[in-house]
Amino acid sequence: MTAAGDTARPPRGSRDEVVLAVRDLGKYFPIREGALQKVVGHIKAVDGVSFDIAPGQTVGLVGESGCGKTTLGRCVAGLSEPTNGGVYFGLETATKERLDSLLSVTERTASQESELEQLDNRHRVDRMNGDAWRRYRRNCQVVFQESFASLNPRQLVKDIVGRPLRVHREASGSQLTERVVELLAQVGLGRQHLYRFPHQFSGGQRQRISIARALALDPELVILDEPTSALDVSVQAQILNLLHELQQERHLAYLFITHDLSVVRHMADRIVVMYVGRVAEAGPTEVIFDRPQHPYTEALLASSPDVDAHTVDLQALEGAIPDPALPPQGCRFHTRCAVATPTCGWEVDDVVRWLEDVEGTFDTLRGVTRMSPFDAWLSFEDEAAAASLAATLRSEAIPQAMRTALEELTVDARRVRVRFTPVDEVQLTVRGSEHVAACVLDRA
Ligand SMILES: Nc1ncnc2c1ncn2[C@@H]1O[C@H](COP(=O)(O)OP(=O)(O)O)[C@@H](O)[C@H]1O
Ligand code: SF4
Ligand SMILES: [Mg+2]
Repeated sequence: MTAAGDTARPPRGSRDEVVLAVRDLGKYFPIREGALQKVVGHIKAVDGVSFDIAPGQTVGLVGESGCGKTTLGRCVAGLSEPTNGGVYFGLETATKERLDSLLSVTERTASQESELEQLDNRHRVDRMNGDAWRRYRRNCQVVFQESFASLNPRQLVKDIVGRPLRVHREASGSQLTERVVELLAQVGLGRQHLYRFPHQFSGGQRQRISIARALALDPELVILDEPTSALDVSVQAQILNLLHELQQERHLAYLFITHDLSVVRHMADRIVVMYVGRVAEAGPTEVIFDRPQHPYTEALLASSPDVDAHTVDLQALEGAIPDPALPPQGCRFHTRCAVATPTCGWEVDDVVRWLEDVEGTFDTLRGVTRMSPFDAWLSFEDEAAAASLAATLRSEAIPQAMRTALEELTVDARRVRVRFTPVDEVQLTVRGSEHVAACVLDRA
């Protein structure tokens, strides 16, 4: 089958291209308050994420709940419009290199702007319209975690799986039914399932129906958002095997989203680890498992249940996930990192968070006057409370790295000034071939 508007393209797998290039992608949700619903801040659900997916490749996107995986998947699918950056589809390698070179220029000339505009109009998902958009809708399909929510409960399987074929005028009548039977056979279901409703199936079977529907238009890319997270371990393995077989047969590219690293271990060619909207580490799967460079990746590995061994090691990842509306300075993981250093981004909010955690202490805090995220006066109820905080900040009750980063600690009656060394956001650095991590430590 050949996609409409796609007839001039050479066969899949023979092209020198990337299926998908995500560039500096950001998606911010406004936080509104009051009767006038004034915007008082933004949840930075996705904040400057870049990666590629090659034809037939699986990229595993992993991270804890709330780190922005689904939001990113929705932007990739064109279901949500990015705030910054873009998602590019179907770029030949040379064009992708040209795009990267144009995007890296801070002050573009008029001709460079016009060249970028042309590339955007042709390849950027949120700029596509007409034939380009239809082609993308065929070529990028999504399978969600909750098959109950994504399958219309009042439609028969025949109509659910056949709908994309009908909408894109690929088939009708008895030909449509036969195409649906073929698709069902590919996912291990049969003709006897055509005239049943979603509630008449098990969770694993419903996920097979979702996969059949996603395959109907012979896409190049399938976004799998926690496709096995709601399933029992044995059913999970069956669905993973099915996805793997379908990928081999059809040369599909997958963006496999999961909170559980071990699920994608045998599926993914590359892993992208996200933390509070940003990429913490990305690299080839075996490198991420054998030589992780980011302490967050290590913690995720240590806390992942092993699908094969059926064991769960729960030693790692303590502490609250930060609020994406107020991401920590420096390295976003510094509030939970066991090996954080003085240069990891200690800030006034760390003191405030610490006060919140210590029972009773926060009650005496009356206000915070910030000069910057790293410098503020904390006002207390009385002088004793102020003196007590200062003494604690000098003691071993707080992490040594945080104490070392504290440049000034001044007590003035009921107020305490805390000033840390300002640091920039920790950027991704190269750790090996196609391996990057955002950590100040060099653990090579
Ligand atoms: N439509 C929305 N409006 C406001 N906030 C949202 C919306 N969708 C997601 N978020 C917030 O964005 C962050 C990332 O969410 P999500 O992408 O669902 O994470 P994940 O899939 O990794 O669990 C969360 O803090 C979530 O509450
Ligand atoms: S930069 Fe590295 S060491 Fe520092 S807090 Fe982040 S992960 Fe930990
Ligand atoms: Mg999600």
